[in-house]
Amino acid sequence: MISHPDAGKSTLTEALALHAAAIASAGAVHGKGERRGVVSDWMEMERARGISITSAALRIDYDGHVLNLLDTPGHADFSEDTYRVLAAVDCAIMLLDSAKGLEPQTLKLFEVCRARRVPVITFVNKWDRPGREPLELLDEIEQRIGLRPTPLNWPVGIAGDFRGLIERPGGAYTKLERTPGGATRAREETLNAQQAARAEGPAWAQAGEELELLAEIGADYDQASFLAGASSPVLFGAALPNFGVAALLRTLIALAPAPSAQPDAGGRPRPVQAPFSGLVFKMQANMDKAHRDRMAFVRVCSGRFERGMVLTHAATGRPFATKYSQAVFGSQRHTIDTAYPGDVIALVNAAALRVGDTLYAGPKVEFAPIPSFAPEHFAVARATDAGRHKQFRRGIDQLDTEGVIQVLSSEVRGDQAPVLAAVGPLQFDVVAHRMAHEFRAPIELAHLDYSIARRTDAASAPALHALPGAEVLTRRSDHALLALIHNKWRLRVIQRDNPDLTTAPLLAGGLE
Ligand code: G4P
Repeated sequence: MISHPDAGKSTLTEALALHAAAIASAGAVHGKGERRGVVSDWMEMERARGISITSAALRIDYDGHVLNLLDTPGHADFSEDTYRVLAAVDCAIMLLDSAKGLEPQTLKLFEVCRARRVPVITFVNKWDRPGREPLELLDEIEQRIGLRPTPLNWPVGIAGDFRGLIERPGGAYTKLERTPGGATRAREETLNAQQAARAEGPAWAQAGEELELLAEIGADYDQASFLAGASSPVLFGAALPNFGVAALLRTLIALAPAPSAQPDAGGRPRPVQAPFSGLVFKMQANMDKAHRDRMAFVRVCSGRFERGMVLTHAATGRPFATKYSQAVFGSQRHTIDTAYPGDVIALVNAAALRVGDTLYAGPKVEFAPIPSFAPEHFAVARATDAGRHKQFRRGIDQLDTEGVIQVLSSEVRGDQAPVLAAVGPLQFDVVAHRMAHEFRAPIELAHLDYSIARRTDAASAPALHALPGAEVLTRRSDHALLALIHNKWRLRVIQRDNPDLTTAPLLAGGLE
């Protein structure tokens, strides 16, 4: 689910789970006055800041189907983590606030979906609150991101006066009734056209006119263009009072593509029936104070997973035992015994794994590595207490492995003062917080005056390093040589004056 912060992602996640009866009632997840304790938010810092920092997996069983819902951090600074999550999905829900439409973070995340050809279903949320005209919102989607909206339902009543939803095509009308506190499923009543016209008056007539207009412009669902990322089915609703959430669930089941063959590093599709293979898309340590461990989130790409299987870790060729595989539901975990393509399993004691790694059974397979975003913020980290150097090293190594931050080093700077590289500055806060609380090695950070990282090579490194406004370091995770450069003007001057030196963009795909 991709959205700008505050569009209602946590609320909708919870409403979907509620509908599928994964949790008994919304009240069980967040009691009154404690709105922030939502299932998928669990870190102390997330609660304090009111944003989702990590990406939890939520499994929903509904009507004979299994949906694995991956939460993505909405904050701009966590785009790197989000990108990795989007490498593990088959479909995305783009959530919009009816009053705000497309917001900056939604746009950025949408671009990642487009680059990865992930089909997108749009949910216009908060229709119970004053907002914009529905046709205007559709127009914005089409004009700004070139995605053709094809509404699957249409609201009766303007935003703020939400009466019900008309299905497209078909025209069945569902009148919605509020339930106190939104703590249970909303009551829905089906009316025929005559009853609806009597009950809703002018709001019904207006919706009818808008529907005629939609029919004229041919804004009808088309599977081929949806799967190709050219059009997006649109649903209207309100997550908080639980209106229109059942329709979203039914749409996901009916339209979201089922797991299909994933291309391996050589571009060959790996059929879902092939022996087990999975992609590590997220690493997390110390999720729960009671279980201090390192956990790998793996998307099953092919085959059947059975707990206890011994898999092969493609990067090292070493065996990996899966005795302790789990399903994670927010902060709760339970052991799972089998999993199928599209499922997410959490493997504990996964210290040897890294994001982008492949695990497999049978003949070797390796999926393409997940590209990372180019960092734009850099700071030197030092332990405030020199006596805790061991803890400091362990913590930095761990956060590097998890991909919370990139760690760079050079002989000049030495081991005790690595350079941390981040896509957004909030990543530094997460590192400082976790270093102090989990690894008991508080750090101080000195920000560096660089904003660009470029890939270089051993031949160019000494000359680049000697230039003003530039410095060359080694990225620990992949031993790549990175040139940090003051700003883009400085980069241009360097490239103009030294055309022979290598200063390549970090990502071939241009997502920098
Ligand atoms: P996020 O995860 O995308 O950041 O958003 P979240 O679900 O936390 O929702 C952001 C705010 O929007 C919350 O209000 C939430 O109650 C509200 N909200 C979400 N969906 C709807 C909806 O359909 N209708 C209305 N009216 N509000 C909605 P808050 O003020 O931040 O928290 P609280 O005061 O409700 O506890």
